[in-house]
Amino acid sequence: MNRRDLLSGVASIPTIAMAQHGHANKGAVRTFEPKNEPPRVRKSFYDLNDEELRNLCRAIGYMRSELPLEHPLQWDNYAKIHALHCTEPSTSHPPVHWSWHFLPWHKGYLFFLERILANILTTVYKIDGSKFALPYWDWISHKGMPNTKIRESAGISSPFFGYDILQENMVTIDNLGFDNSALFDGNRGPTISKSAMDPANELTQDSKDHVNETLKYMSPRYIMSMLAVPFDQFGGKSVVDRKTGQGLLEQGPHNNGHDWIGTRIGKNRTMGTLRSAAADPMFYMHHANIDRIWTFYTLPQPDPNGEYGKQTYDFYDVDGSLVRMSVKDIITSINNVTYAPGQIDLSVPLKVNHNTMWRTVNVGKELYDKPLSIAVPENMLSSSMTLLDIDLGAIKYTGKYNIKIVAGDKIIGKISMMDGDHRKHNTDDMTHSFSVMVLGSVKTTDIVLLPPANGNQKMFIKSIRYKSY
Ligand code: C2O
Repeated sequence: MNRRDLLSGVASIPTIAMAQHGHANKGAVRTFEPKNEPPRVRKSFYDLNDEELRNLCRAIGYMRSELPLEHPLQWDNYAKIHALHCTEPSTSHPPVHWSWHFLPWHKGYLFFLERILANILTTVYKIDGSKFALPYWDWISHKGMPNTKIRESAGISSPFFGYDILQENMVTIDNLGFDNSALFDGNRGPTISKSAMDPANELTQDSKDHVNETLKYMSPRYIMSMLAVPFDQFGGKSVVDRKTGQGLLEQGPHNNGHDWIGTRIGKNRTMGTLRSAAADPMFYMHHANIDRIWTFYTLPQPDPNGEYGKQTYDFYDVDGSLVRMSVKDIITSINNVTYAPGQIDLSVPLKVNHNTMWRTVNVGKELYDKPLSIAVPENMLSSSMTLLDIDLGAIKYTGKYNIKIVAGDKIIGKISMMDGDHRKHNTDDMTHSFSVMVLGSVKTTDIVLLPPANGNQKMFIKSIRYKSY
């Protein structure tokens, strides 16, 4: 099949008007109910066979380079939906980070992309799309830009750097019958020769520290421990009571994964800012792994029949039309997606004592330009696993920041986040919490918060709650 044949396939995905793209006509949005969805088993990227990889490149490449710019499913337009929900949120696009909305919204976003890609395979490439599933980047066992086992053992580089980097012209005349650069993004930190998540690949001490921290967050021990904490701390807090907060899954492996891919020499590139993150195909493989980890969570979750389930979101369906799903629908009716096991088994929950009490240390101090030292009980971090919740006042700073938390002579965690414009609307009655999970006992009588090197924002620290396991 050549490119001209492919282009003739555009007709099978109707082009729709821009007005719909701007969500001008909210009333016309149809409620989406999954019906007869084919079972889709998402595999680790590592386990894809050559044909599965080619199909992924075909379908993504089609959205990236064959659909006209005004088509709502054109790749960058699809990525824009994500930006609208984070760096430019509004009533029609509520924020989907930093709270309990994080997991369900991204689950829906992946579900629709997968349907769209499958439909492109069926209608444009005449390949059975019902067999298609998005792969996941299993960073618990693959610390680097993902590659398939088949290619890796043949000494071929990750297709995220180009399906065949030996082709003379990566973009137009590739002889492959599909977009050679379908999975490529030019603004990543990792390069073909430094594609592993390894501090030795980093130039500055700061980025070496960041990689070490990322490796910790992505370790089996950290993931298993995270799966043993309450949902508020695992998946994010309720927005109903004006107390919001990222879960450990979002703040740790998720944010660090974004930064590892998208931050280079101190600058935020595609994956490094929520504004453009979804334009890098890595985004969807990263989020598939986040979603997969959620499937291993066995403790109580917020009730989908309550406030949690009411929030609705608009997505694009296979024909570019807008469809609406509530959090409840996303959680209860997307049942066709499952995950093939990765290399490490996450299915046996860690045995911990869930019945320990939360205790509180009141703080009531401002963190600004000097380290803030907080006296804490001597035995606070004496267990092998301690969960901290740091409650802060309103945060109006919209950029990224990173506050290191030190106990004894160890960095035990951080208060950090990716960018998000909704924070500038925060009011003083809001509380934000940051969770920190400390693994291994630390002997200390104080906890020190280090102000961000580049920051000039004040932060009011209300209290620290802790729970020892
Ligand atoms: Cu919506 Cu990984 O961010």
